[in-house]
Amino acid sequence: MNMVLMGLPGAGKGTQAERIVAAFSVPHISTGDMFRQAVKEGTPLGLEAKSYMDQGQLVPDRVTIGIVRDRLGKDDCAEGFLLDGFPRTVPQAEALDELLKEMGRGLDHVIYIRVGEEELVKRLTGRRICRNCGATYHVVFAPPRQEGVCDRCGGELYQRDDDREETVAKRLQVNLEQTNHLLKYYESTGILRTIDGEQPIEQVTASIMTTIRGSN
Ligand code: AP5
Ligand code: ZN
Repeated sequence: MNMVLMGLPGAGKGTQAERIVAAFSVPHISTGDMFRQAVKEGTPLGLEAKSYMDQGQLVPDRVTIGIVRDRLGKDDCAEGFLLDGFPRTVPQAEALDELLKEMGRGLDHVIYIRVGEEELVKRLTGRRICRNCGATYHVVFAPPRQEGVCDRCGGELYQRDDDREETVAKRLQVNLEQTNHLLKYYESTGILRTIDGEQPIEQVTASIMTTIRGSN
C-alpha cells in the first residue's frame, strides 16, 4: 500500500504514522526525520537543511525530492510505504507522481489530518521528544509518567529547536499556503481523504484505519 500522510506542523502526522506503519508493515518515511538525522550527523545535507529548518522555512524542492527518490528506491519500499510530511508543495507532488510512474506504481491513499491553527500552536509548543528513542510526548495532551523522562526507555525529553514559539508562527504561515495548493492538487485526483485531527489520538487513528480499510 502506497500512502501519503498530510497535515500542517503539529497535526499529528508523526504520532499517527507510527501506528499506521505498525498496522500495515510498511516503512515510515518522514522527510523531517531524515533532515534531523542528517543535522545530527553533520552531513552536507544536514548543514543545508538546518539553515531552513531553524527559520521555519521549507528545504528547497530539489534537495527534498532527491532524498525521497533515493529512499523510495530501497528494497523495503517494494511492498509499499507511508510518506509523512512529503509532498509539501505542488512541485514535490508532481515529482512524486512522475517517480512512481517510472516505477510502475501509484498512490493508494492521501490522508489529510485537519487541525485548526490555535490547536496546532498548543501542540507544537508543548511537544517533547525522547533524545534516545525518538518517542513523542506532550506536556498536557500526552504527558510521560515522570516529567522529562521517556516512559519507554528512560531517556531525556527535549524540545525541538523549531518548536519554540517564534519559529512555530513562521512554520505555520509557510506551510498553510503550500498546503492549500497541495490540497487542491490532490482533490482533483479524487484520492484525498480528510480526517478530523482534533479528536483524541486513538480516535484519529481509528478514523484513519477506517478510511484506509474502507476504500480498499
Ligand atoms: P517535520 O518534522 O515534518 O515537521 P512538521 O511538518 O512541522 O510536523 P511536525 O513533526 O512538527 O508535526 P506532526 O504533524 O508530526 O505532529 P506530532 O505527531 O509530532 O519537518 C520539519 C522541517 O523539515 C520543516 O519545517 C522543513 O523545514 C523541513 N521539511 C520536512 N519535510 C519537508 C518537505 N517535504 N519539503 C520541504 N521541507 C521539509 O504531534 C505534535 C504534538 O501534538 C505532539 O506533542 C503530540 O503528542 C501531540 N498530539 C498529536 N496528536 C494529538 C491529538 N490527537 N490530540 C492531542 N495532542 C496530539
Ligand atoms: Zn525513549
